[in-house]
Amino acid sequence: MLKFGLLGAGRIGYTHAVAINALSNASIAAVFDPVDEAAARIQDMSGASRASVDDIMADGAIDAVIIATPTNLHADQIEMAARAGKAIFCEKPIDLDVKRVRACLDVVAETNTQLMVGFNRRFDANFVNVRKQINNGAIGTVEMVQITSRDPSPPPVEYIKVSGGLFRDMMIHDFDMARFLLGEEITEVSATGSVLVDPAIGEAGDVDSAVATLKTASGKIAIISNSRRATYGYDQRVEVHGSKGMVCAENMRSTTVTVANEQGYTAEPLMDFFMERYAEAYKNELGCFVKSVLENNTITPDGNDGLKALELADAALISLQTGETVTLT
Ligand SMILES: NC(=O)c1ccc[n+]([C@@H]2O[C@H](COP(=O)([O-])OP(=O)(O)OC[C@H]3O[C@@H](n4cnc5c(N)ncnc54)[C@H](O)[C@@H]3O)[C@@H](O)[C@H]2O)c1
Repeated sequence: MLKFGLLGAGRIGYTHAVAINALSNASIAAVFDPVDEAAARIQDMSGASRASVDDIMADGAIDAVIIATPTNLHADQIEMAARAGKAIFCEKPIDLDVKRVRACLDVVAETNTQLMVGFNRRFDANFVNVRKQINNGAIGTVEMVQITSRDPSPPPVEYIKVSGGLFRDMMIHDFDMARFLLGEEITEVSATGSVLVDPAIGEAGDVDSAVATLKTASGKIAIISNSRRATYGYDQRVEVHGSKGMVCAENMRSTTVTVANEQGYTAEPLMDFFMERYAEAYKNELGCFVKSVLENNTITPDGNDGLKALELADAALISLQTGETVTLT
């Protein structure tokens, strides 16, 4: 039985608590959130006690922590938990600054801590199956990957201002997915972006529509297309082209019902947003973390995966600003 301390009980913290609650081999033992109702909601659902961050770190009966706090707190809380001997599940990104991430990962390594970073899409049944088809040789050698990721609507501009920008906040998931599907490290990044959705996003210094082209040392290519708006719902597709074929994952809908008449074909809208679309992935992710810690297995995606995705995001931002292709070593 793995006992968790939960730090941060907002949108994603609550989702993770629900996932842990459904497991027979894990429980939320304690929760801290400065917002009383947020912590109380977890207490009511799981029977967790309310504790301070220091209490959670000092409690020897707590084996692991879930860090679901705002991004600027992640690195400090990872270091605290690592020094306290806890296994760590931390939401993406580890930090918005690569140097800070590296310093934090040094502490994780020194303390020999098990750390998973919340790239939930690696646990989505569709994308897992795409990777499995690649591993089984169904499409031969991977040559080109295409990732389409469009949010239904942009977040509030106040969020955009502290988010780290589209590449670090949104496309970071797609950078990780590109690495997951290419199976090789990316060595070249070029990116472009525009403000097409909301001028306020541009005034906040960000873009809301962007494309990144990635290349590995052996010449494999990935193209990522992001938009902060898709009128038809949360658009999440991948396609991988290989030497012997192609494998793709289409969008998910709540049912597969299609109506056909003289106006054409009508289907259900796409699943609304990440909380609905990736609900099962979040459960699989925490289930995998718990199993890995209990069985002392290697954890993936780990801190290095978090760092690599952030390095790609930074490279994309430099490419957007300079118009040049950025080489990574
Ligand atoms: N993997 C994903 O799909 C995904 C989705 C959403 C958010 N996230 C990440 O999760 C993190 C949280 O995002 P969110 O949308 O849940 O935000 P949120 O604002 O809904 O929740 C954050 C919670 O942390 C609490 N908090 C603030 N300071 C705290 C502290 N010192 N200790 C403990 N709790 C504290 C806040 O009161 C709030 O309840 C962000 O880093 C975000 O990037 C990841």
